[in-house]
Amino acid sequence: MKILITYHSDTGNTAKVGMSMKEALEEEGQEVSAIHAKDVDPSSLKSYDLVVIGSPIYGPRNIGKHAKALLTKGDLPPKIAFFYTHQQYKLYPKAFGGIAKKLEEEGNIKVLGEFECIGAALALEGAMGEKYLSSMRPDQREAAIKHFEEIKGRPNADDLAKAKEFAKSLLK
Ligand SMILES: Cc1cc2nc3c(=O)[nH]c(=O)nc-3n(C[C@H](O)[C@H](O)[C@H](O)COP(=O)(O)O)c2cc1C
Repeated sequence: MKILITYHSDTGNTAKVGMSMKEALEEEGQEVSAIHAKDVDPSSLKSYDLVVIGSPIYGPRNIGKHAKALLTKGDLPPKIAFFYTHQQYKLYPKAFGGIAKKLEEEGNIKVLGEFECIGAALALEGAMGEKYLSSMRPDQREAAIKHFEEIKGRPNADDLAKAKEFAKSLLK
């Protein structure tokens, strides 16, 4: 199969997950390209047998603008799948799900699956993080600092192994 893995990624987490998926699919003998969504021509999507689209989660219903652009303007192939990274344990299931449902209802598109994992909010390190934390009540601030510590380094080796497993499951 000719497969495209494309992702919006600002600080590298989602790209890392996408690259693990590429590795897994290549291990299975597939022809795989992994490209940042901003560099993908939306009209090229139809030339793939499967397109796997990834993004960070930005708020309850938002995904990265480059991933969103491919979904709204792209000429999608019949088979797609999604993956996303997010820093909160609690996931916003609607972020991708709403789009997936709409795509399946509107066209001959089958969403093969969705994968998600934790990605440390690297954008909130340093001054940005201080600003973010300073707006919180002391108890919230303490919990947020504890959470940042807990998720440091994610996606980790375990997350990436699961991403590989997911990618391979798309071939079944
Ligand atoms: C401005 C901003 C908003 C974010 N909003 C959320 C959010 O609502 N929920 C969440 O779980 N993570 C949120 N995150 C965390 C990112 O989704 C997460 O760190 C992701 O792994 C970043 O991916 P990237 O490294 O590929 O850019 C936010 C991060 C930023 C910078």
